[in-house]
Amino acid sequence: MPKLTAFDIQKMKQEGKKITMLTAYDYSLASIFDEAKIDILLIGDSMGQAIYGASTTLEVTLNMTIRHTQAVARGAVNYSLIIADMPFLSFGLTVDETVANAGRLIKEGHAEAVKLEGSSDNRIKEIEAMVDIGIPVQGHIGLIPQSAYKLGGYKVQGKNESYFSEEQLLSDAKRLEAAGCFSIILEAIPLAVAKKITESISIPTIGIGAGPNCDGQVLVCYDMLGCTSGHKPKFVKQYVNLHQIILDAVNKYAKEVKDGSYPSLEHSYEG
Ligand code: KIV
Repeated sequence: MPKLTAFDIQKMKQEGKKITMLTAYDYSLASIFDEAKIDILLIGDSMGQAIYGASTTLEVTLNMTIRHTQAVARGAVNYSLIIADMPFLSFGLTVDETVANAGRLIKEGHAEAVKLEGSSDNRIKEIEAMVDIGIPVQGHIGLIPQSAYKLGGYKVQGKNESYFSEEQLLSDAKRLEAAGCFSIILEAIPLAVAKKITESISIPTIGIGAGPNCDGQVLVCYDMLGCTSGHKPKFVKQYVNLHQIILDAVNKYAKEVKDGSYPSLEHSYEG
């Protein structure tokens, strides 16, 4: 089966096929996710927290994203579509700068598409310019973490009291579709709103905290693998507790080094 393209992802909605997506930041996990035939790997700016221990995504830079995209691209060689997340301020200044920065993610990082947050008039112009030059773009609405300060925190959107109303999200999704996005991330919105959006547009919606009616789902890989500690959002399902598995293995290694049982003859060169 050849490597997926943005065009293939777009078609999956018409074909009624659910889309799988995970974040990936390095070569080793990307190789495993590619082997598991995860449809999309996102080099998300969630690397700020997951890899660098920051409290927000805001300190992630374009150069960091390029380096991690290169690593993922070396791992995901057979199947998964590779999308690089445009970090804070790599877009939003001028349209030309946005296109040039997306171009670096493609040319230097070997991304096959880019994602960016938001749906303002400026964002629409940037998306149109990127699509015009041949770069597939994934939109992202709802709880957009790069705007968390503006939204009043990491809060569910599309509710009465939230920054983005249900009507706003619905019209934003249609604007992103019209601008040429091949799919849209819906983050932290009520499942009924996600259903309405999904039924109103012809491009796939990929939910994270948006319920089961989206065309696909995405999770931060370290969350579903159980590597992260601290607050776990309601929508996260932990499929394995890697934290405990790694802790047990490392404790066993340390004990064996201390008591001299590692390395044994089996793990030593003789002669
Ligand atoms: O950076 C990220 O991981 C994301 C996903 C949550 C969609 O944007």
